[in-house]
Amino acid sequence: MKIANSTILVTGANRGLGRALVEEALKRGAKRVYAGTREPLTNSDRRVIPITLDVTNAAQIEDAVEKVESLDLLINNAGLALYDDLTDRAALERSLEVNLFGPYGMIQAFLPQLTRSGGAIVNNVSLMALAPLPLTPAYAVSKAAAFNLTQSLRALLAGRGVRVHAVLTGPTDTDMTRGFEIPKASPESVAQAIFDALDNGEEDIFPDPMSASVAESWRSGPAKALEREQAVFV
Ligand SMILES: NC(=O)c1ccc[n+]([C@@H]2O[C@H](COP(=O)([O-])OP(=O)(O)OC[C@H]3O[C@@H](n4cnc5c(N)ncnc54)[C@H](OP(=O)(O)O)[C@@H]3O)[C@@H](O)[C@H]2O)c1
Repeated sequence: MKIANSTILVTGANRGLGRALVEEALKRGAKRVYAGTREPLTNSDRRVIPITLDVTNAAQIEDAVEKVESLDLLINNAGLALYDDLTDRAALERSLEVNLFGPYGMIQAFLPQLTRSGGAIVNNVSLMALAPLPLTPAYAVSKAAAFNLTQSLRALLAGRGVRVHAVLTGPTDTDMTRGFEIPKASPESVAQAIFDALDNGEEDIFPDPMSASVAESWRSGPAKALEREQAVFV
């Protein structure tokens, strides 16, 4: 997938990884970038079209669909990470609402445009989809679910010509990881690695040093082999 001349929608585009993805898409010559944000956004680049978009708000998703005529790439980036210990059901529900049902709702809504363009979906999940950090277990549950959703949609949408990618992002230096004293990748380098991987046609993307350290074993491991074996049933 080439970013040059393409039309892209990024959710959670106002800060962190979302903002870096918008800037990197512009650098690579995207024709138009729809920037989904909950609060009003200004960007001096004429190719950026701000869209009010809370991914848990069905009416706002519908409005966004009306505004986006054609779309080559949907990047489900918006996400919520709460510190919890799984004693609070509301924390789990909120995590699933944003991190699982958010991307789910966006994908279902934008499928007509993506099918018309033979486009792609990128779900920014997390390395925690493979193994939880038990400081944010509700988040990890929601990301594991979002990854599984990605794997099924990959099989289900292949026949329509829509590719579905997962990004198994590791620690990145954004508001989300503030206070964690661990090595972190810059959001700019992660955004670059995501688009490079799309260019190379990688379906599961490991865009930072920590996630890259498990990429090879994931790709050649039994879980990936099973995903491929079971995909043929569709
Ligand atoms: N940073 C990491 O280490 C890391 C690692 C793995 C995966 N990720 C994933 O990468 C994505 C981006 O994270 P980040 O690090 O850039 O985090 P961040 O700096 O905390 O930004 C989160 C973004 O998501 C938006 N958002 C939250 N809830 C939303 C909702 N209901 N509707 C629409 N937008 C919503 C926020 O908008 P507001 O400004 O309005 O709150 C913000 O733009 C997330 O999906 C995260 O899980 C991050």
